[in-house]
Amino acid sequence: MWDTLWTNAHIATMDPEEPGRQPYGAIRDGAIAVEGDRIAWVGRMKHLPGKPETLATHVRDARGRWITPGLVDCHTHLVYGGNRAREFELRLEGASYEEIAKAGGGIISTVKATRAALEEELLESASIRLEQLLSEGVTTVEIKSGYGLDTETELKMLRVARRLGEQHAVTVKTTFLGAHALPPEYKDRADDYIDLVCSEMLPAAAEEGLADAVDAFCEGIAFSPEQTEKLFQAAARYGIPVKLHADQLSDLNGAGLAAKYHALSADHLEYTNEDAAKAMGKAGTVAVLLPGAFYFLRETKFPPMEAFREHGVDIALATDSNPGSSPVTSLLLMLNMACTLFRMTPEDALAGITRNGAKALGLGDHVGTLTVGKQADFVLWDVEEPAELAYRFGHNPCAGVVHAGHVVR
Ligand code: NIG
Ligand code: FE
Repeated sequence: MWDTLWTNAHIATMDPEEPGRQPYGAIRDGAIAVEGDRIAWVGRMKHLPGKPETLATHVRDARGRWITPGLVDCHTHLVYGGNRAREFELRLEGASYEEIAKAGGGIISTVKATRAALEEELLESASIRLEQLLSEGVTTVEIKSGYGLDTETELKMLRVARRLGEQHAVTVKTTFLGAHALPPEYKDRADDYIDLVCSEMLPAAAEEGLADAVDAFCEGIAFSPEQTEKLFQAAARYGIPVKLHADQLSDLNGAGLAAKYHALSADHLEYTNEDAAKAMGKAGTVAVLLPGAFYFLRETKFPPMEAFREHGVDIALATDSNPGSSPVTSLLLMLNMACTLFRMTPEDALAGITRNGAKALGLGDHVGTLTVGKQADFVLWDVEEPAELAYRFGHNPCAGVVHAGHVVR
């Protein structure tokens, strides 16, 4: 007997290997069985090995709804103090994101607010943002540090991220982003700061088990490729996988560097060159596109979509939820924007927030498709076809969420 059998569902498995594959890996008139926290069976109703009541302790009728994998938001900065609405006004008056950063605003203004905040305050404000993501079917979320830039505050942020995962029905992956910006106390001493990150902050985060991955911001206004490389080498010594904020505002060959270190993902990528895209394809590094930041910074340069496709780079999408470049808490909106702005198909976009989002977190074998043996994370939607998820915006058709086998919404 299974624990729960969901009947009368259309299932977008998003499994690329689904036999006789339909778009979205779809199984119409299907059922999905849960045993403990795992998917035990998925297929057509007519192929069930018996009458539903004889197969499971609980039978739940999905009443013709669509079921997709639980959504994965693989790049967020959910934990921070304050906000940057004033900076938004400045940008609308003509100041650029880089100018504001160089004048000591930008990331550094959030660093000040985050250092000043108590752990409980950070937990509370991030909880509200997290709940907004979860209400749209997110079951896995990545959360970065990077607004502390000192050991104490970086660890405080990562502890908050871990506690969010304990207090909410979601799988949290933490990323240590100590190399996000140069803190004011290290002005003109970027190399010294990177040494601190490598020799004190990263070891402390690793010691407490607070860093599932290591990330950096490789950019003119942040850290050079050489400094990034030092950090990647330190991460390797701790056996922690890397990711990179790469080529967001200029092409420093960040994506190529990420590929060289077999990064899980390279993120942003508007200025990525073709050779780097090719290297990403070879290395299996996922391209994480962030349409919220593209839109909010009014970027006009598009990520090299053709090159990614040609070189077999998997594309994921995420909110990049943060106070400076992407103050958004809707992953469904990113689905729509990836289609309208980046010309992705609704199916590819959905893969970007399920299967490929999982891969960008090193969770490709664990979540992201509805396949037997994977964690039972899925979402029921009040839609008639899966493309509706990308087509509407500002609309939330989420009708139910299962996380690790439990109905949580
Ligand atoms: O992903 N690019 C760098 N980091 C964040 C923005 C951080 C901020 O402006 O607060 C990003 O866009
Ligand atoms: Fe980011």
